[in-house]
Amino acid sequence: MEDRETEMIQLANDRLTPCQLKFYEEDDLKITMVEPRINKFFQGKYLQTCCVPLAEGSLIMIGIGKMNTLGIHEQREIFAKAAKVMRKYSIEECTLEVLEFIKQYGIKSIGAMVEGLMLGDYAFHAYKQNTGLRDRKIFLKGIKKEDETNAKKYLKEAVHRAEGIIFTRNMVNMPGNHLRPDDFVSYTKEFLEGTDIIVEVLTLEEIKKLNMDALRSVGESSAFSPCFMVLKYKGNPRECESFALVGKGVTCDTGGYCLKAADSMRGIKGDMAGGASVVGAFYALAKNTIKTNVVGVIPICENRISTSSLLPGDVISSMSGKTIEVLNTDAEGRLILADAITYVLQKEKVTSLLTVATLTGAVVNLFGFTITGVLTDGELLWHQFEEAYRKSGERFCRIPFYKEHEKMIESEIADIKNVGENYCGTITAGLFLRAFAQGKPWIHLDIAGTAWVDQPVFEYQTKGATGASVSTIYYLCCKE
Ligand code: BES
Ligand code: ZN
Ligand code: ZN
Repeated sequence: MEDRETEMIQLANDRLTPCQLKFYEEDDLKITMVEPRINKFFQGKYLQTCCVPLAEGSLIMIGIGKMNTLGIHEQREIFAKAAKVMRKYSIEECTLEVLEFIKQYGIKSIGAMVEGLMLGDYAFHAYKQNTGLRDRKIFLKGIKKEDETNAKKYLKEAVHRAEGIIFTRNMVNMPGNHLRPDDFVSYTKEFLEGTDIIVEVLTLEEIKKLNMDALRSVGESSAFSPCFMVLKYKGNPRECESFALVGKGVTCDTGGYCLKAADSMRGIKGDMAGGASVVGAFYALAKNTIKTNVVGVIPICENRISTSSLLPGDVISSMSGKTIEVLNTDAEGRLILADAITYVLQKEKVTSLLTVATLTGAVVNLFGFTITGVLTDGELLWHQFEEAYRKSGERFCRIPFYKEHEKMIESEIADIKNVGENYCGTITAGLFLRAFAQGKPWIHLDIAGTAWVDQPVFEYQTKGATGASVSTIYYLCCKE
């Protein structure tokens, strides 16, 4: 996979392909120079496109609006648009003039270009007999000789990041009947083969031995047994502590006995997006040999109906020893994550931790499909996270919480209950996780709204999985 993608985008200054792709600012005078009639309908507006047949090939024109107003997100959109136009016209080889971008945003902007091109070209066609997909070759033109080494470095780094995101998308798009808990493990092992990441897997027997009662209780709702995956990457061996990434891996969430309504079932196969994001970020960190230590834990299971499923009102134990009153079987993510958090804190030397999960419908009401909700109790961690998402161009918003919210998940008969009242569901879900974090700095990403789009919002998205949070988690772990 890597080789194909690395070859897909290349630097080339002396290469002339029959198809050229050029970017134009709004009301750019160069537009009239192409063909006087063109600026009647193409004015270089942001994401406007135009394809001009020339005697020797074709010219694709992409509008960028005003060059000096583009953030990472916009740059990525522009290049995703470029990829989509190439696909639309079945262009197999194309030269892109990128000089102006480098002048404005520096050689690092290669990263946004590569991500845009690769993500914009993404399609999930695993179950189609005829995809009609062909390999494409894209040549970036206009990079100065002295910038070439850096350009190659940023290109490679971004290719790895985009490959991580694409893996996450593929996993989330995969139908539930093709992605049982043990399939999650085998696809991950296959994807991470050849990297410096160690993958360990705990079976149901080991889950029982470790008293991971919360994971066991949810997982035993299905004939497809739960498992627990541990990823270790030691990019900085002189340091013994690691940053922990904890991702929800529910490969299908029917809600259990608190069964979801038919309409809400469409996206249930995507409930392992948090876990898949952790794998995607690990891949990018290891492939780019980032000097940092991370340990990832992913509790993987299904949430279904059977005689051994939880019932509302049940009380279960957990690896931490805390007892949990389960009042809603559809609030299963926090249960399995509680055991994952306890595991990683008990077994590994952890500085701080990040949880990432498609955890609550409430966050979708709050922020829709483009902003991920964040809860955190670590001020330094939050500061580092802000830096990380400034680099990734993804959107996040911090949600506050107070003592009164903690009260909402106090149980009368057990140590804690898995749902609060009908309000502030994203906060109570987050605070449930925090109750297991033993006071370690913790940051939580609720990607329930952003992991999946029925209607793509951005050019670098397609209907379905987005891979949201992978690149931000990557940059957060890159901090030195
Ligand atoms: N996986 C869902 C959350 C979800 C909702 C993800 C919509 C993606 C889109 C989670 O397990 C869940 O069902 N949460 C419940 C919690 C409630 C019962 C307290 C919810 O948000 O409705
Ligand atoms: Zn649920
Ligand atoms: Zn769920």
